[in-house]
Amino acid sequence: MARARSVYTCTECGGQAPKWQGQCPHCEAWNTLVETAAEAAKGAGGNRFAGLAGGGEVVALAEVEAKDFPRMPTLLQEFDRVLGGGLVEGGVVLIGGDPGIGKSTLLLQAAARLAEQAPVLYVSGEESAQQVALRARRLEVNAAKVRLLPEIELERIQAALATHRPRVAVIDSIQTLYSSALTSAPGSVAQVRECAAQLTRVAKQSGTAMIFIGHVTKEGALAGPRVLEHMVDTVLYFEGDTHTSFRLIRAFKNRFGAVNEMGVFAMTERGLREVTNPSALFLSHHRADVPGSCVMVTQEGTRPLLVELQALVDETHGGQPRRLTVGLEQNRLAMLLAVLHRHAGLALFDQDVFVNAVGGVRIVEPGADLAVTLAIVSSLRNRALPAKHVVFGEVGLAGEVRPVQRGQERLREAAKLGFTHAIVPAANRPRQRVEGIEVVAVERLSDAVDYAAR
Ligand code: TYD
Ligand code: MG
Repeated sequence: MARARSVYTCTECGGQAPKWQGQCPHCEAWNTLVETAAEAAKGAGGNRFAGLAGGGEVVALAEVEAKDFPRMPTLLQEFDRVLGGGLVEGGVVLIGGDPGIGKSTLLLQAAARLAEQAPVLYVSGEESAQQVALRARRLEVNAAKVRLLPEIELERIQAALATHRPRVAVIDSIQTLYSSALTSAPGSVAQVRECAAQLTRVAKQSGTAMIFIGHVTKEGALAGPRVLEHMVDTVLYFEGDTHTSFRLIRAFKNRFGAVNEMGVFAMTERGLREVTNPSALFLSHHRADVPGSCVMVTQEGTRPLLVELQALVDETHGGQPRRLTVGLEQNRLAMLLAVLHRHAGLALFDQDVFVNAVGGVRIVEPGADLAVTLAIVSSLRNRALPAKHVVFGEVGLAGEVRPVQRGQERLREAAKLGFTHAIVPAANRPRQRVEGIEVVAVERLSDAVDYAAR
């Protein structure tokens, strides 16, 4: 069989060039050209991307029947939560995460449950059939109905998909596949892109829901071309501190659901166990009140979550003061320190500041600002914050404390876990009293700092 001709495609703009060069001739980006298979001649093979969204006639939007996507729940509640209720027919999910975090474990558990309802094909490119079987035994899942294919060649996988017509296919992992139409090595950008594009096309045409497992780079982004994220319908990240047993799964992009949902699992001896009530997971239980610790209520999708934030302020010895965050945004810390200086009169230019979110959780919402600032103030003064207090609120550059979403729910959750006071933005003051919790509403950062110093 003659090899298909190669062309070089830009990962930024998609422009093509006949041979490799350092700069894309179309968008002038550097080092973005990668080898791809040339499109098959028109007529014979048609458009390789045909069927991605289904070609069709021009119609008035009003005439299109808007029906809900039929969902296929994986019956792992926490997984379904991030998927938006389950897998969608023909939908493609990409799930990324560090090696050893538990991606294969999660997908094998999900596959076993799905196989009870519909035909499932598990393509294992990383592990042999024996290894997968061993894992299934360890997990004590009923994997009898899961069809397994240890294979890395795209063309054979396509053939298996065509013969077995599964409702769900798991690809573990997309980086191990290669297409014999390309000359580059498995795992190269060109191969990953080509295999993902081909499989996505199969998913759209056959209605098979596909889940790709993807590796991440050292920086934590999915390895391979950015176009991968555009190609698929849903991008999930599986994360967690490998030193603790908790694993979080989050949606980064979801054409079929919300992106701020989070699923929580615990890794046990027998696989992943769902944690359906994680709100108190990220609290460390100090025996006495300690300086530099502040409990915040964050909102993950539809669920409030209590997280302890810790700050350590220490004199700088020579050189630039250090600003370090774990689980929070570094730039945001620099900004909060400037606000603290200008609007609360606390100077930290000769102090190192370290901030940590307990339990390996990552907080992206600005609603953490007030808690971060109070933890810093508490460490600076070496005085614990008043006991049984929770905090939330965004801090603005003018020193104002801005409201967050779903304040009422956050208060209720805090009350449920035995907190008696909450320092919250004035605009989040509840209209009706929340049973069991005293609300301290603040308008400015300085009000909160003064209150904490009482
Ligand atoms: P795995 O699913 O192979 O990770 P990934 O596919 O993301 O690379 O999980 C590997 C880790 O999980 C491994 O270090 C062992 C641990 N593990 C358990 O603790 N309990 C179990 O039941 C299983 C199957 C794995
Ligand atoms: Mg694996």
